[in-house]
Amino acid sequence: MASLASFSTISSSSAARLSSLRNSSSNSFVLTKSSPNSIKLLSTPPRQYKRLVLKAKANSVIDAPTTSYINDVSDSPKVLLEVKDLTAKIADSGEQILKGVNLVIYEGEIHAIMGKNGSGKSTFSKVLVGHPDYEVTGGTVLFKGENLLDMEPEERSLAGLFMSFQSPVEIPGVSNSDFLNMAYNARRKKLGFPELGPLEFYDYISRRLKIVNMDTNFLNRNVNEGFSGGEKKRNEILQLAVLGADLAILDEIDSGLDVDALQDVGEAVNELLTPQKSVLMVTHYQRLLDIIKPKFVHIMEDGKIVKTGDISIAVQLEKEGYKGISS
Ligand SMILES: Nc1ncnc2c1ncn2[C@@H]1O[C@H](COP(=O)(O)OP(=O)(O)O)[C@@H](O)[C@H]1O
Ligand SMILES: [Mg+2]
Repeated sequence: MASLASFSTISSSSAARLSSLRNSSSNSFVLTKSSPNSIKLLSTPPRQYKRLVLKAKANSVIDAPTTSYINDVSDSPKVLLEVKDLTAKIADSGEQILKGVNLVIYEGEIHAIMGKNGSGKSTFSKVLVGHPDYEVTGGTVLFKGENLLDMEPEERSLAGLFMSFQSPVEIPGVSNSDFLNMAYNARRKKLGFPELGPLEFYDYISRRLKIVNMDTNFLNRNVNEGFSGGEKKRNEILQLAVLGADLAILDEIDSGLDVDALQDVGEAVNELLTPQKSVLMVTHYQRLLDIIKPKFVHIMEDGKIVKTGDISIAVQLEKEGYKGISS
């Protein structure tokens, strides 16, 4: 049942709160906890449990030192993520997808990964956040100098890693504001900060919404339920805005967006960036890279990064397709 293994990450007290929230609504839906670090959202009917993923992208809006890495006061740029010879397979089938990925991201850098469908871009992103569909078979990943692969998904999130999924998960019956409140306060708690009360949270989240130019109406809607593709993408950015991250992995944040929405989403991400924050974005299109400007563009092919360059690779891709990119 590895493919059904829940990927999430909210503390048990938060789970209980979410559960009570959910049970108070009309839709029959329960939330259970399967292990110390994972939560299953079980919806009934249908008979078969539908397991949903809760991404508690808890972290780093709280500007507190979470690792010794932060205490390094040297001026030289710090390595944020260091991936060496990473290999991974699909847990269920054993099929090897990642075949030796190498990538180094420094603090404050924006990187893009491009590549044909099926080359392993989403797999790589999900392996970084600890998605249980995949098993790492070799290589190392350091995040802020610590072994990322040893951490549970929740710990990765608390360490400052965020991922916006290519296909964001719906959480029926749970409003965005309840979800964000819970995830944000879970993070505060974990980091030793007092939880924010409803008014303080509302004040905080309103300020964050302004930064990404989003309407407060979004808060009342259930997480991704009935959202259009574009709204889901915006909602991912809302989560990023509220929860924060040192490294935001954005998997095809541009897919399904019209030109105006793309501009809005791109600008929202830019608003969230600081000189220390880093982004790893997966995209097929140069138009996103014209808004969120990467320092490096990598081409992934058959589970490996086969070429690295600057934006000119994306420009060339747009003109000539992948056959024009010689590795
Ligand atoms: N959970 C999964 N179960 C089965 N096959 C998968 C799973 N995840 C990825 N794959 C397969 O791995 C390959 C790489 O997929 P993916 O990482 O999504 O590629 P990309 O994001 O570059 O389009 C594809 O052949 C895809 O079908
Ligand atoms: Mg993909």
